[in-house]
Amino acid sequence: MESSQQRIKIAVQKTGRLTEHSQDMLERCGLKLTRSKDRLFCYGENMPIDLLLVRDDDIPGLVSEDVCDLGIVGLNVVEEKRLELEAAGQNAMFKQVFALDFGHCRLALAGPADAEYGGISSLENKRIATSYVHLLNNFLNSNSIRAETVYFSGAVEIAPKLGKADYICDLVSTGSTLEANGMQQHDVLLESEAVVIQTRAPLSDEKQALVSRLLQRLDGVLQVRESKYIMLHAPRSALPRIRDLLPGSEAPTVVPLEGTPEKVAIHAVCRENVFWETLENLKAAGASSLLVLPVEKMLA
Ligand code: PRP
Ligand code: ZN
Repeated sequence: MESSQQRIKIAVQKTGRLTEHSQDMLERCGLKLTRSKDRLFCYGENMPIDLLLVRDDDIPGLVSEDVCDLGIVGLNVVEEKRLELEAAGQNAMFKQVFALDFGHCRLALAGPADAEYGGISSLENKRIATSYVHLLNNFLNSNSIRAETVYFSGAVEIAPKLGKADYICDLVSTGSTLEANGMQQHDVLLESEAVVIQTRAPLSDEKQALVSRLLQRLDGVLQVRESKYIMLHAPRSALPRIRDLLPGSEAPTVVPLEGTPEKVAIHAVCRENVFWETLENLKAAGASSLLVLPVEKMLA
C-alpha cells in the first residue's frame, strides 16, 4: 500500500446539503469508498484518494493549511474565508479549480415581507444579521452604505423576530426558509454553487497527475448529465436540415443504409436534452426510426 503521503485527501462536508452530492460525484468518477468506523473518514478502495468528513466552514482552512489537497465546498464559504484571510493580512493558500454545477444558492439580503424596501439605501443605519460578515461588509463598503453587522453563527432568519436585527443576509436556495419566517429576498450579493478548491502548496508530480485525472473525470460526469445519443434514419437530401435541428451536437456520423442508397443512418451526441418537440421536428424534416439513448460515460 502507498504511504499516506502519496494519497490525495479531499475535504468534504460531513452533513449538509452538499454531502450526498459530493460523494455521489466522486463515485461517478469511479471511486469506491468505504466509511471508517468513526465516520470521519472515507477510504478510497480502488484509487489512492481519501475523504475527510468535516464541517463545511472548516474546508477552505484545511485546504489552505495543506491538511487536505482538495476540498468540495460552496463558493459562499470559499469567498467568505478568502476575505477573512485578506482582512487578517494573509493570502488564501487555496485556488478554485472547478465548478461542480450543484448546490446552487445565493447569498442575499432579506427583510420582513410586509416592510417596504427602496433598494440598498434602505439599509443605511440599519442592523443586519449574518454569518457572512466579510462578504456583507465588503458589499456594504462597495456601495458606501453604513450599517451595523450583527454576527449570528446560525438560525440567522430568526434575528428580526428576536429584535436583534432589521434585515438578514443569508443563503437562499428554495426560499422556503424566508417564506416560513415571513421575509422576502432583496439584493443578491453572491451566486453560489459547489466548487473544488486545491491547495497552493505544490503537489508531487504523481499527485498532480491524479488530481488532473480526477478533474477530467468530473468534467466527463458533468457533460454526460445532459447528453443524449441520438440515432435516426433519413433521406440523404434531408441531411442539412436535420443537422440544424440536432441540439448541441458536433459533426454527426452519417452511415449509408444497405440496399437504400438514398437513405442514411445518422448518429450524434447531443450535449443538451432532446425533447419531444425536437423529435417531432426531426420527423417532420424526414427522419424516421428515431432513438434517443442516455450517455453513461464520456472522455473528451
Ligand atoms: C441555509 C440558510 C437557510 C437555508 C435556506 O442554511 O442559512 O437556513 O439554508 O435554504 P432554503 O431557501 O432552501 O430554505 P444551510 O442549510 O446551508 O446550513 P448552514 O448555513 O448552517 O451550513
Ligand atoms: Zn455551515
